Amino acid sequence: MTATRIDGKAFAAKLRERVGATALTFAQDAGRKPGLAVVLVGDDPASQVYVGSKGKATLAANMNSFEHRLPDDTGEEALLSLIDQLNNDDAVDGILVQLPLPDHLDEQSIIASINPDKDVDGFHIINAGRLSVGQSGFVPCTPLGCMMLLTDRLGDLSGLEAVVVGRSNIVGKPMAQLLLDANATVTIAHSRTKDLPSVVKRADIVVAAVGRPHMIGKDWLKDGATVIDVGINRLPPEPGKEKGKLVGDVAYDEASEIAAAITPVPGGVGPMTIAVLLRNTVVAAHRNAGLDAPKGL
Ligand code: GUN
Repeated sequence: MTATRIDGKAFAAKLRERVGATALTFAQDAGRKPGLAVVLVGDDPASQVYVGSKGKATLAANMNSFEHRLPDDTGEEALLSLIDQLNNDDAVDGILVQLPLPDHLDEQSIIASINPDKDVDGFHIINAGRLSVGQSGFVPCTPLGCMMLLTDRLGDLSGLEAVVVGRSNIVGKPMAQLLLDANATVTIAHSRTKDLPSVVKRADIVVAAVGRPHMIGKDWLKDGATVIDVGINRLPPEPGKEKGKLVGDVAYDEASEIAAAITPVPGGVGPMTIAVLLRNTVVAAHRNAGLDAPKGL
C-alpha cells in the first residue's frame, strides 16, 4: 500500500479563506473587525518567527493584530498588568501569550490570568475543564487541527482504536479528549509505556506528538492505519548546509508503505495550528459580541 498524503497545507489554506470571509461578515454585523493580541516576552528566535507569522496571517484573514513584544527581563507584575489591559479591551477578542516564557515567569499563573473567553489557545484551566466535561470552550489549536484532518479523511471515528503518543497539556491530553468525544477507543502512550511498538500497532489512528525524530517506523504500524504526525524536529545539518532538515516523529517514507494515509512534515499538521488559531479568534469575536458563532468553521 502507498499511503495517501494528507495535505494539511491545502486544508489550512481553505480554512483560512473561510475564516477571512467570516471575519468580513462579522465586521459588517458588529461594526468592528475581530482582534487578536499576541504577547511575546524575550527574544527567542523561533518564537519571534512564530509571532511574526501569526501577525501576518491575522491581517490576511481580515482581522486586527495587536503585537506586544516585551523584553526578556519583564517582571510578572508588568506582564499581568498588560494581560489585564487586554482582558478589558473590547477590540481584543483573543489573547495569546507565546510559550515558552523566560524561566523567571510562571506559565501557569500567567495563563490563568487570561480571560477564558479570550483564551484562543485553549490553555486556560477553565477551557481544559470545559473540554474534559464536554462543554463548549476553546480547544488548543494543534489537536483541533489534527481532529479536522482526521474527520475530513475518515468521517465517523466511532469505535476506531486511537493511540496518542505523548501526554502534554497542549497536544496529547486534549487530543485524547477530542478522540474520546468522537467515540474512538483511546489510549495515551508515553515514554514510560511498556512495549510502545505493540501498543501503537493496535491503532487505526496514530497521533504522534513526542518530539523524537523518526521514532515511529513501519514495524510499529498496523496495515491501513491513519497517521497524524505532530512532531517538528530539526536534524543536524548535512555537510555544507546551514540548517538541518525538518522531520516528524514518524519515518514518513517507510510508514507510507503500510499506512493508508499520513501527514507529511512539513506541510501536514504545522499549517493547521495558525489556521485554527484564526478560527478560534473569529469564534471568540462572535461570542464576545453576542452574535451566533458561525457553523462549520
Ligand atoms: N509555542 C509553541 N506553540 C504554541 C502555541 O500553540 N501557543 C502558544 N501560546 N505558544 C506556543
